Amino acid sequence: MDLIGYVDSKQDEHLNELKELLRIPSVSTKSEHKADIERAARWVAEKLRAAGLENVEVAPTKMHPLVYGESLRAPGKPTVLFYGHYDVQPAEPLDLWTTPAFEPTVRDGNLYGRGTADDKGQVHIHLKALQALRNCSGKLPINVKAMIEGEEEIGSVNLWEFVQQNRERLKADALVVSDTAMLAKGVPSITYGLRGLNYYQIEIIGPAQDLHSGVFGGAVPNPITILAETIAKLHDRNFRVAIPGFYDDVVPVSREERKALNFLPWKEKEFRRMVGAPALSGEKGFTIVEQLWTRPTLEVNGIWGGYTGEGAKTVIPSKAFAKLSTRLVPQQDPAKIAKLVGRHIQKLLPKTVTHKFEVLSTGKPWVAPYTHPIFQKAIHALEAGFGKKAVFIREGGSIPFVTQMYDTFKVPCVLLGFGLPDENAHAPDEHIALENYFAGIKSVALFYEQLATL
Ligand code: BES
Ligand code: MN
Ligand code: MN
Repeated sequence: MDLIGYVDSKQDEHLNELKELLRIPSVSTKSEHKADIERAARWVAEKLRAAGLENVEVAPTKMHPLVYGESLRAPGKPTVLFYGHYDVQPAEPLDLWTTPAFEPTVRDGNLYGRGTADDKGQVHIHLKALQALRNCSGKLPINVKAMIEGEEEIGSVNLWEFVQQNRERLKADALVVSDTAMLAKGVPSITYGLRGLNYYQIEIIGPAQDLHSGVFGGAVPNPITILAETIAKLHDRNFRVAIPGFYDDVVPVSREERKALNFLPWKEKEFRRMVGAPALSGEKGFTIVEQLWTRPTLEVNGIWGGYTGEGAKTVIPSKAFAKLSTRLVPQQDPAKIAKLVGRHIQKLLPKTVTHKFEVLSTGKPWVAPYTHPIFQKAIHALEAGFGKKAVFIREGGSIPFVTQMYDTFKVPCVLLGFGLPDENAHAPDEHIALENYFAGIKSVALFYEQLATL
């Protein structure tokens, strides 16, 4: 049977199998899900074996295991390293899900559930593409190494150590990742750029304990007010980050690249609809696509302190907290940016409070040329699988591992994304469009098949 006919004949089977994985709540950030993480890892290992991979192992790390498997029975043919993650973000707030996060459900041509788009659905696309190749022709046309980790959503804490210890074993001609999105429905896309990510937490400490706001209010510093003032000073009126030196190492995007990015079939109206805010706000002098993909940002991800329960409580809090992050672009250096942010916040704070500034994680941006012939194979495979024209895009999200691999192994990194920007990754009602899931399996199978003639 031909590949396309095979994939079409297996739709129900594939979908039911993916649902099994989605039912495992492998939330990496919560220790209560440790057993689920282990279960998801074993599930992935079993499916790697079913797809014909050998030497499959669930490799322990200091925290969550990663799954590795390989098929090296195509001597003289290229070797790809496939990377994805089986861990997911927490499902909270649970009450905002139309159907429960870990009870996958099909509605209106979409499969709903935590991990459908990010990243279990996309990992499954590769598992089924490999199995299709094997079942249709008896063997894999290329050499494949697969590494699927369980700590992506918490910053791939232990992944790099595994890579260092297995440098020879992981050698490949290309890295293939499916953990990104398409530009829009009907526009299969290859991502050649990601922003880097630094994550920070600040704690502002004022009075030694919470105080009665009537008895003490008016004479003592309020950490929440001071935190709010400080945060308000981190941008100027043009929505530029007001931290001295922040933009120093940003390399301007070339005229040709700007033109190409702004010329993509991307619809501002559609973007405004997705955002749903009364109006947009972004750095002056750049188009929205440029703001999202090519410019660094600073965002406040959370702020808390004092009383937030029902009704009133008259209190001056002892402490206030915030979580901040910066998205980075070439050639910003994460360590240097972290220092700049930390020092500037320290400078802004008055003498009435003390503070702690913590850098929770850092990650470099990645932008790479797509001139290697493998990218043409990928474009052709996507166009055949989707029956639509494929494009090259950049994205604003971050996968620090891609940068590390690119810098270390100097191999082309092919990011085939099958999610969509409005599929609610990390949010309630996460879903994947079934048409993209099925077209994804076909595209990846065709891609791997065509790589035999690279
Ligand atoms: N799959 C995403 C990354 C992504 C999303 C890339 C959208 C491109 C477009 C990944 O799972 C993720 O959520 N990454 C985090 C950073 C990570 C270190 C926790 C992110 O981008 O916030
Ligand atoms: Mn992901
Ligand atoms: Mn994610």
